[in-house]
Amino acid sequence: MKPSPDTCASEFAHAMQQALTETPRRISPKWFYDAEGSRLFDAICELPEYYPTRTELGLLDRHANDIARRLGPGVELVEFGAGSLRKVRLLLEALERPAGLLPIDISAEHLHASAAQLQRDRPGLAVRPLAADFTQDLVLPPAHGPRVGFFPGSSIGNFEPDEARRLLQRMAGWLDGGLLVGVDLVKEPDLLHAAYNDAQGVTARFNRNLLVRANSELGADFELNRWAHSAFYHPALQRIEMHLVSRSDQVVHLCGHAIPVAEGDSVHTENSYKYTVAGFQRLARQAGFAPEAVWVDARRWFALHWLKPAEGQAL
Ligand code: AVJ
Repeated sequence: MKPSPDTCASEFAHAMQQALTETPRRISPKWFYDAEGSRLFDAICELPEYYPTRTELGLLDRHANDIARRLGPGVELVEFGAGSLRKVRLLLEALERPAGLLPIDISAEHLHASAAQLQRDRPGLAVRPLAADFTQDLVLPPAHGPRVGFFPGSSIGNFEPDEARRLLQRMAGWLDGGLLVGVDLVKEPDLLHAAYNDAQGVTARFNRNLLVRANSELGADFELNRWAHSAFYHPALQRIEMHLVSRSDQVVHLCGHAIPVAEGDSVHTENSYKYTVAGFQRLARQAGFAPEAVWVDARRWFALHWLKPAEGQAL
């Protein structure tokens, strides 16, 4: 397929070209999430090795009443990176007279399908989906009640700590009611390794979907079997790193450029930072939030933090 000049002027085209040519080679994980990437991520959430989703759902279920009491009645929820909306459904069940839900996701198709399904199941709830990239400028429509953010899944771990602090700071400016945020905990490296190197190879397919997407959207010619999935834990940085590693010397064609890649060259596709409870609370304080409560499972694998905007915080 020959890409149109338009396609090659897109933000994704620019990100892919940079990913192959800059040093170090890297790209934001937000580009994983086209319709197929969102589907693959939902499949990851069902894997036996991928504990975060199950553990966070367990916390939401087990502490639903306590959480609902903290958030208060009549709140409007804003979910960041809403995806399938499975978790927010649990929260909505528990809340007293929720005023509405504003689910935000970069994957428009997936978002509109899940929002329509939720609206059918809860006709009385104001569901206002917003297909947007919340890491860029974002204007929220007028609030329908105290605004509470919901940022589950440890997606905050995709950001470098500095970026995460800035993102939380921006969220503090949008949310007068507070923020409920799910954060993966630092743990035994073997458990982390297994979660990002599943036996069925779904995570590998999710990682390579970036190349599938570049082939179909940008007319690139990535050969999938020439790129290996690599995911490992970096203990000093407390993060999982995902990479795509070239299995041979090769030339990739992308939007009129012929880009040489050597065997062993890697493109860094994702970081997934892990935090201790105290470490994340420190970050939240630096961003203008006051940590008010935290729920952790018995195995101490995952934490749900309840943060309120700090008093007297000039933003
Ligand atoms: C959605 C960003 C939280 O980092 O664990 C899952 C994405 N990447 N397996 C994560 C992901 C590989 C996930 N987040």
